[in-house]
Amino acid sequence: MILVTGGAGFIGSNFVLDWLATSDEPVVNLDALTYAGNLANLASLAGDARHIFVRGDICDRALVDRLLANYRPRAIVHFAAESHVDRSIHGPGEFVRTNVQGTFTLLEAARAYWTALDEPARTAFRFLHVSTDEVYGSLGPDDPPFTETTPYAPNSPYAASKAASDHLVRAWHHTYGLPVLTTNCSNNYGPYQFPEKLIPLVIANALGGRPLPVYGDGLNVRDWLYVGDHCAGVRTVLEKGRQGETYNIGGWNERTNIEIVRRICALLDELRPDPAGSYERLITFVKDRPGHDRRYAIDARKIERELGWRPAETFESGLRKTVRWYLDNQAWLRQVQDGSYRAWIDMNYAAR
Ligand code: NAD
Ligand code: TYD
Repeated sequence: MILVTGGAGFIGSNFVLDWLATSDEPVVNLDALTYAGNLANLASLAGDARHIFVRGDICDRALVDRLLANYRPRAIVHFAAESHVDRSIHGPGEFVRTNVQGTFTLLEAARAYWTALDEPARTAFRFLHVSTDEVYGSLGPDDPPFTETTPYAPNSPYAASKAASDHLVRAWHHTYGLPVLTTNCSNNYGPYQFPEKLIPLVIANALGGRPLPVYGDGLNVRDWLYVGDHCAGVRTVLEKGRQGETYNIGGWNERTNIEIVRRICALLDELRPDPAGSYERLITFVKDRPGHDRRYAIDARKIERELGWRPAETFESGLRKTVRWYLDNQAWLRQVQDGSYRAWIDMNYAAR
């Protein structure tokens, strides 16, 4: 069995669902159910004995020790994190606690557990740390994409906390020999993404007839990857990755934010036309994010060459699937847009 952290969040829940759709190996899912964690994402696994959900904090060493002792996982796949840049600007403390202290706690618990394992379990064990391309900082328009050897230059509190966690993971390999793997992925999109991030926020606001907020000039560039492709990449690295190595995962798909917003409007115009006119009428340029990274781009040749992973979705097919999913799951969307969500939207957008 494997232990997944953060498996009730966006990527973690997609990972758990995909894992159990393609394998019978059970999953212990440790998640604190913060605002971003949602058991509704895992509703299709109700009654499935292969999924064991544990509500708890990755900073709780005694709990992590108990889970490792009771379930004897062959791997830990670590998604749990605070993940939203804008929230890290308003309140960085929780990012340091979960992303740095939480990863440290998991590493220490994993080290104690792994050290006491018998062969061959000790050789087979893996700690896979899921990270982001944001640790590499911001690119100029003509810079080559990030490779695994690009120096770290995190710019937001979120990116800095993830960079710190990556360094801890690296050090636990070099110093203690813990068999770790790290993945650094570009921006994900797809089903179950909390509507604070650009793509689901724009879909949700468009469906509600609200403004579509574009920060600054809308020309910041991100590399976008469908979440199912990221999950497949993580499974590939877990299975075949060389311990101690890092792998960049990306879609070769750089887009400006305004392009993304316009594309979503066009898909909604086609799939759910609004008698009031094109959704583009709702596009509103607002005050920029402080320290806003201009461009991210991923060079994914290492994982492609060494492990044979490639994205299955194009941006066009992935975005269409995603828009359809939100149209078909408006009850899910309404459920997550609760009082705390509205308070966040007021805090982040009222003064823009
Ligand atoms: P998310 O915010 O949707 O989910 C995070 C999950 O972690 C939630 O279920 C939350 O309840 C849980 N969690 C938070 N703090 C916890 C704690 N202290 N103990 C236990 N559980 C806790 O995030 P996501 O978008 O699914 O991202 C998952 C991982 O992938 C993160 O590590 C993130 O840095 C990384 N990543 C995300 C993206 C992206 O575009 N979303 C891209 C690259 C990498
Ligand atoms: P986001 O989804 O928050 O991901 P990240 O900051 O981790 O890349 O934002 C993606 C891009 O969209 C980023 O350049 C900021 C921009 N953005 C907006 O223009 N408006 C918004 O309301 C949000 C949430 C993001």
